[in-house]
Amino acid sequence: MAILVNEEKKLFTLNTKSTTYQMKVIDYGYLAHLYYGKRLDGDMSYVITHYDRGFSGNPNDAGEDRTFSMDNIPQEYSCYGNGDYRTPAFNMKDIEGVHGADLRYVSYEVLNEKYSLKGLPAAYTEGEKGETLKIVLMDDVNGVQVTLLYGVIEDKDVITRAAIVKNVSDADVFITKAASTSLDFVSGDYDIIHFHGRHAMERMFEREEITHGVKKIGSIRGTSSHQHSPFVMLADRAANEDHGDCYGISLLYSGSFNCEVEKDQTDQIRLNMGIQDEMFEYVLYPGSEFVTPEVAMVYSADGFADMTHKMHDLVRYNICRGEYKTKRRPVLINSWEAVYFDFDGDDIVNIAKKASELGVEMLVLDDGWFGVRNDDRSGLGDWFVNEDKMGGSMADVVKRVNDLGMKFGIWIEPEMISEKSRLFEEHPDFAFRIPGRKPVMSRSQLNLDFSRKEVVDCILEQMFKVFDQINVEYIKMDMNRSIANVYSITEGIQNNGTILYKYVLGVYDFMDRLQARYPKLFIEGCSGGGGRFDAGMMYYTPQIWCSDNTDAICRLDIQYGTSFGYPISVVGSHVSAVPNHQTGRITPFNTRAVVAMAGSFGYELDLNKVSDEEKEEVKTQIAAYKKYWDLMHNGLYYRLTDADKSKKIAAWSFVSRDKAETLVNIVTVDSFCNSPVPFVRVKGLDADATYVDEATGAEYSGQGLDQIGLPVPLKFGEYNAYQIHLVRK
Ligand code: GLA
Repeated sequence: MAILVNEEKKLFTLNTKSTTYQMKVIDYGYLAHLYYGKRLDGDMSYVITHYDRGFSGNPNDAGEDRTFSMDNIPQEYSCYGNGDYRTPAFNMKDIEGVHGADLRYVSYEVLNEKYSLKGLPAAYTEGEKGETLKIVLMDDVNGVQVTLLYGVIEDKDVITRAAIVKNVSDADVFITKAASTSLDFVSGDYDIIHFHGRHAMERMFEREEITHGVKKIGSIRGTSSHQHSPFVMLADRAANEDHGDCYGISLLYSGSFNCEVEKDQTDQIRLNMGIQDEMFEYVLYPGSEFVTPEVAMVYSADGFADMTHKMHDLVRYNICRGEYKTKRRPVLINSWEAVYFDFDGDDIVNIAKKASELGVEMLVLDDGWFGVRNDDRSGLGDWFVNEDKMGGSMADVVKRVNDLGMKFGIWIEPEMISEKSRLFEEHPDFAFRIPGRKPVMSRSQLNLDFSRKEVVDCILEQMFKVFDQINVEYIKMDMNRSIANVYSITEGIQNNGTILYKYVLGVYDFMDRLQARYPKLFIEGCSGGGGRFDAGMMYYTPQIWCSDNTDAICRLDIQYGTSFGYPISVVGSHVSAVPNHQTGRITPFNTRAVVAMAGSFGYELDLNKVSDEEKEEVKTQIAAYKKYWDLMHNGLYYRLTDADKSKKIAAWSFVSRDKAETLVNIVTVDSFCNSPVPFVRVKGLDADATYVDEATGAEYSGQGLDQIGLPVPLKFGEYNAYQIHLVRK
């Protein structure tokens, strides 16, 4: 049993292969957090200490005891208003507008399987053991019950959390904050590692010491966003790739979120993560429930690489789903950077033709095939084929592509509406707009109100009509603006604070219904590249276009940051033309391919326009991708350098789980004359073995590769890349 309950002590212990999580019901029915970290035995109740601290309130039940304060006790689900002045995990308002909560223990239940969440993504188990601990807490005054859910996937070292808030009173209650997880640490010096960014430059690594006060990251954009990732790490100050305590915490949610870390007056640390509470106010009618998104947590005593391996395995095998969950995805060519909006059916077939000759397996028709859409100012919401522009039916184009032996994929952006569209003429109320205010525009489009089922239905019905007629095997589902103008005619003013949450549920429902209608369909996520790159989305889209920036050198940083919490298989990555369309940089064709292979591989250019030499290279690249795919997607990923450019090279590797082979990838990011030889220390190998470079026959000792490293070849020219395949002798 991974979940141990000591009824007498009211002690709950969750054990995974190498981690332990422990909590206990203490005096007056409060649920205290005792420990989360390396696997330990025994009762850690001693971590709770009691001292009289000025201005830290005491529960009335404690009588004259001034040493008992929620302000100091590590807790599982802290509340605003019961004497704890730190950043709370939970708060609510009663019908009179009075804030506050005080949750006390009621009961527990252990289930022999991992829970799932209705309408929301949640990690699942398949052929491996999962367990659930439910702990019911209650606020007697407002009649609100909170069920804390803990999922344990023992073999993967994963603990998940979520909460269900239920109104058991006969008056409305308003939830103003409901985190998915709250972790209190009574000791330790921690850094917070988070991944900030912007459009076309997502998930930049940042590490900061947690100092007194509150550090907050998150999104109020209605999506998880380019600007902050809902995956963070908490790491011991001394931890690095290979050593030290670190926690990976990933929120399975694709909307506005919030992560706060606080160092309090006595140097204790709290981390809360969950749905964004700004502008959030969820009205809970008598008898109704609110379900928080799930958070998945892993801990490693052995540094970032080991934490990453655990997170990668969780996302790849317990969150991603569908036909292509673990299958090699077809090598695709996408029309966007090849022709943008300027194409007809013949142009698309021509791109497909050359690509298929060179070994590409799927053609993806990007934006511009529907409504009236020759630029980004019109047409969104009108999901019928523009046959005039295409010069015929979509069925004809798809057939011609299929006849080349290629699969066909198509782009959609279901959550949007252009003011210049038939849909807007017919249903202006489908768009988010606030009465009396001029709407905030972005890319000349508005957000559709996906909190309303009839809006989701309308978009799905239009799309079904198109997709029922063609053999579509892949969909790229895009989302190209942040949400604003939040107002829904069905929710009205009173329930405005619920809309963005319901919107995300609407998006999940859309994807569920699309997948149900076409069970073999492979959906790739996208939001202007990686603006909705989160573990929640990955439950529906096992691949996500990682960034609109296809520059190989920028991608090194983007893919480096992305790699901490998300597996390689999810990262959509393409070879594009030079000069690069986003940066103007020129990089060698091979370098672009090596970088794109650290993901799910494809092309984003017109292969009719590359040189004959490069056409031959495409064949070699695809052969290499197919050869190494299993190693890359199912092996263990190691970062061999960090984001520090002064090191002149970027390197990463894939190691098979039996350590029999590794593929070392190196890109030089700067060039010098008469350069010193850089050495890359190769990780994760068998120290006692000898490894042979498959291409040159050179031999290396496993220990040498680890301790001294692999010499990086020196070659004339800028931005060279190497893929070195080492095989155990
Ligand atoms: C977004 C996507 C691109 C492309 C365009 C089409 O920016 O990230 O890949 O699909 O939209 O408009």
